[in-house]
Amino acid sequence: MTAQLQTSILPSEKPRKDIKLIESTYKSNTLSDYTEKIEHLYKNFKYSNNSNHYWNEPELSMLYGTPLYESASASQKLALNHVHWFGMYNVVAASETETIAYNQITSGVFSACGYETLARELALETHQERSHINAFHKIGYMTMKDLLGKEAFKAPLKGKLHQLTSQDVVQSPTSLRLLKSLFLKCENSSLASSQYNFLRFAAKKMLKQNQQYYSQYLKELDENNKFIPVSTTGLIGRGISPKSLQRFFAFNWGSSPFLASQYYSVRIMANMVLKNTEHGISKYFKSLAKKGEVIPDPTAVSHYHFLDESFHSTTSLVLARDLYKNFSPPTAYEKYIANLAIYMMQCGILSGISATAPDRYYADDYSLMYFVYRLLQSPVFEMSTQDALYWMEKCFCQEHEGFQMAAKYHQRLRLDMCRFYENLDYLWPVNREMRVMATGGSVDKAVQNNIKLFQDFSKLVTSENL
Ligand SMILES: [Fe+2]
Ligand SMILES: [Fe+2]
Repeated sequence: MTAQLQTSILPSEKPRKDIKLIESTYKSNTLSDYTEKIEHLYKNFKYSNNSNHYWNEPELSMLYGTPLYESASASQKLALNHVHWFGMYNVVAASETETIAYNQITSGVFSACGYETLARELALETHQERSHINAFHKIGYMTMKDLLGKEAFKAPLKGKLHQLTSQDVVQSPTSLRLLKSLFLKCENSSLASSQYNFLRFAAKKMLKQNQQYYSQYLKELDENNKFIPVSTTGLIGRGISPKSLQRFFAFNWGSSPFLASQYYSVRIMANMVLKNTEHGISKYFKSLAKKGEVIPDPTAVSHYHFLDESFHSTTSLVLARDLYKNFSPPTAYEKYIANLAIYMMQCGILSGISATAPDRYYADDYSLMYFVYRLLQSPVFEMSTQDALYWMEKCFCQEHEGFQMAAKYHQRLRLDMCRFYENLDYLWPVNREMRVMATGGSVDKAVQNNIKLFQDFSKLVTSENL
């Protein structure tokens, strides 16, 4: 970092603990070999070599604690354990694809501020995410192909099934519901880009004092008339939607030092969601190693990923919690944007519990129903349509042990999040205390939501004979 640039954004001399922590993280991350271990494991992965072992504790199995799980055979239980690994890392891969874009967007701002070591750490993390994504895709694809056959990759139904909107929009607080509806109406029309251009124009005006920090990555996209990449399947894609709104946030995160650092108050949410599950898998890895038992490759990948991600979590922590204090105090606009992002993420990815996986916190189970339906008709269960719907009703719409487990995971995650967000002095109380998330931990609410959605789902699959 150059002294000249440091002083231009640092009004006073302070002990630079945050910078020291970034430097030591970069050094340790550079010296580590976890990514190389992951690469070796996934390149040699064969499902048949790993299919007879649990990849994590049984509680991390799809449909764990449901009546169906209780009556499943030993081989079906094993398959459900592997399917959970696939489902979880499918979302992680999509979220890390988002991370690659946002690391580059924000890194441009930090480079313009003179934080070169930080920019190098973010480049290293981006490189590591690419390997992680390849590992999750390859292991996940091979597992699902062997377990469920090619049917597993049939795209979720287009048309009617997609028109049934997740309760995410319906259940969001009124103000957010209006905002989302406004954007959703235009999502598939030419109005979407006008809407984005208008918002971007307004953001540019609000952030004009930060012009010199505008991200190089965004500049290059502008010069090539390219859109900012967005996603619908990663955690940010699910939390901040539709796409034009996501692009608006990305533009803001790449346009001011405060907002660039506060993208990490969103990224740390994904870090904590992952850690809430992966820490358990890492402990499982250690217990197998201690007992001298076979360690399945996916378990080892999870363990080394957990270690790689601990560097990434430290980066998120330092940037979100400390770094922003070195910049000019945020304007009312910057505080509003940073708060809105966290608020939307709470509504989108943390406002519920699931009947089928303890570590899934979306507003409802709607997007999982089709997957479970296919799973029950696959070679693992070989159910008829009627039997599949019978068991789905029992699993999604009636209280069972799986919901209690999910409530426990949700509660543990919320406490972790509160411990972190209470440090951010600019946050609205609804974010500092994770109040939206708090309302999502109810078993009764989850059951009631699923009852309504399952009625629509079963009518649709029966009428369409899917
Ligand atoms: Fe990763
Ligand atoms: Fe990461």
